[in-house]
Amino acid sequence: MNKNDSKLPFVFSNFAITADGKIAFASREFVPFGSKNDHRHMMELRATADAIMAGARTVEAPGVTMRPGGRKYQRLRLARGLSEYNLRVIVTGSGSMNLQADIFQSRFSRIIFLVSERVPEKRLQELRGVANEVGVFGKTEVDLPAALRWLNKKWKVKRLLCEGGATLHDAVIRAGLLQELHLTICPKIFGGNTAPTIADGGDFVKLAEATQFKLSSAKRVGNELFAVFKSAK
Ligand SMILES: NC(=O)c1ccc[n+]([C@@H]2O[C@H](COP(=O)([O-])OP(=O)(O)OC[C@H]3O[C@@H](n4cnc5c(N)ncnc54)[C@H](OP(=O)(O)O)[C@@H]3O)[C@@H](O)[C@H]2O)c1
Repeated sequence: MNKNDSKLPFVFSNFAITADGKIAFASREFVPFGSKNDHRHMMELRATADAIMAGARTVEAPGVTMRPGGRKYQRLRLARGLSEYNLRVIVTGSGSMNLQADIFQSRFSRIIFLVSERVPEKRLQELRGVANEVGVFGKTEVDLPAALRWLNKKWKVKRLLCEGGATLHDAVIRAGLLQELHLTICPKIFGGNTAPTIADGGDFVKLAEATQFKLSSAKRVGNELFAVFKSAK
């Protein structure tokens, strides 16, 4: 596909982080640590997105289904001209995703895998068995710009919400795709120098190379701070 054939979706992301910048414990076990307000915030953001995208390790966690938060949000989606349920996009460059994960038990909306050419044909067939479509982009890693253009063209994704985890979000940032970052800063400290952050990949070595954002808004609700950053590009 010619890369000029279609547009990139608007990409935004949302995380709960601790006061020391962690998004989970070093064990990477899925432990929701935000308040009810944070959960509501997540559902409100989901209700503005055509699709939600996450990395294989985040999606494999028990209970993760990437669904809208019930009738109220489904109605809101319809009123905004969105489909009643968001598309669900899973990134797994090697195809290592656990196909017994809870997400495949709830068939309320389409599931799309983004994989790389590394995935052998037999495994591609297995992935096709649990998903509605498998898009292959890039030799060893998923070529995210190409994949997102395809999501826009084929699946009409105009707003894409990235819900992590650390590795996928880092790739999204490095590809220069992130336009808006929502952080809920929670009054907790997890510590640990291997606990994941919102960007676990190679480090930038110069200040000039750092991805730049502008603080767009910040609001205290209860004991948490809801901040929105916009890309300074
Ligand atoms: N606090 C929060 O708001 C929040 C939100 C989400 C997640 N989390 C936490 O984050 C942790 C998970 O993060 P994680 O970094 O371990 O995993 P992740 O980013 O969810 O998934 C990593 C996997 O996604 C695939 N992937 C990511 N980027 C890719 C790329 N550019 N090309 C190809 N494949 C790519 C790879 O799959 P393959 O190995 O199959 O190739 C990779 O192993 C968990 O602890 C979770 O609870 C926290």
